[in-house]
Amino acid sequence: MTIYALGDKIPEIASTAYVHPQASVIGDVKIGQRVFVAPMASIRGDRGKIEIGDETNVQDGAIIHSDPSFVTRIGRRVNIGHNATIHAECIEDNAAIGMGAVLMLGSKVAEGAMIANSALLHYKAKTEPNKIYAGVPAKYMRNIDPKSDARQAIDEYLDSYVTLTNVYKTDLRKIHE
Ligand SMILES: CC(C)(COP(=O)(O)OP(=O)(O)OC[C@H]1O[C@@H](n2cnc3c(N)ncnc32)[C@H](O)[C@@H]1OP(=O)(O)O)[C@@H](O)C(=O)NCCC(=O)NCCS
Repeated sequence: MTIYALGDKIPEIASTAYVHPQASVIGDVKIGQRVFVAPMASIRGDRGKIEIGDETNVQDGAIIHSDPSFVTRIGRRVNIGHNATIHAECIEDNAAIGMGAVLMLGSKVAEGAMIANSALLHYKAKTEPNKIYAGVPAKYMRNIDPKSDARQAIDEYLDSYVTLTNVYKTDLRKIHE
């Protein structure tokens, strides 16, 4: 794993989490139980603290960067899609961040909300729970009912990443340099 202390700031990573060796975790970062961090993800806690809740996944190429003015809080069972850029202040439990979405400084994603693929959530923008936001800049698109099939599909997807934390620990092997 590519996990770096920065001075006295040392990442705290739960023993049940999985961080791929090509991901980078630096400094003041706390990672919860059964979190999956994919190759090329960068979680850089050099300017402030970053906390990631249990069963969240951070997919390939996603960037999470901190800021001195707040603790970056990412909740439980949050899906962070490939290449998302997270400079948000908080992403609450069960939220989903689409591929390539950009969450600007101090933005806040509410519980169960979804930020669509390629959306831009503006500086300090706030969202409401269980709603989808899309576009540049991101605007309200529609609701997502927590009991809907779509929500269930997201939950199954999250579960598959929880399973992968164990699969990668036991089955991943390099076969060529
Ligand atoms: C936003 C989202 C939930 C919409 O899904 P949907 O309701 O099935 O949407 P549809 O494909 O039926 O499209 C409905 C409309 O929204 C538009 N739309 C879809 N995705 C959009 C996006 N990301 N940004 C802007 N508009 C979008 C479509 O063009 C379509 O417009 P139209 O009615 O004018 O033709 C989905 O596109 C999305 O971004 N999901 C995130 C998935 C993800 O990244 N997960 C992480 C896994 S790695």
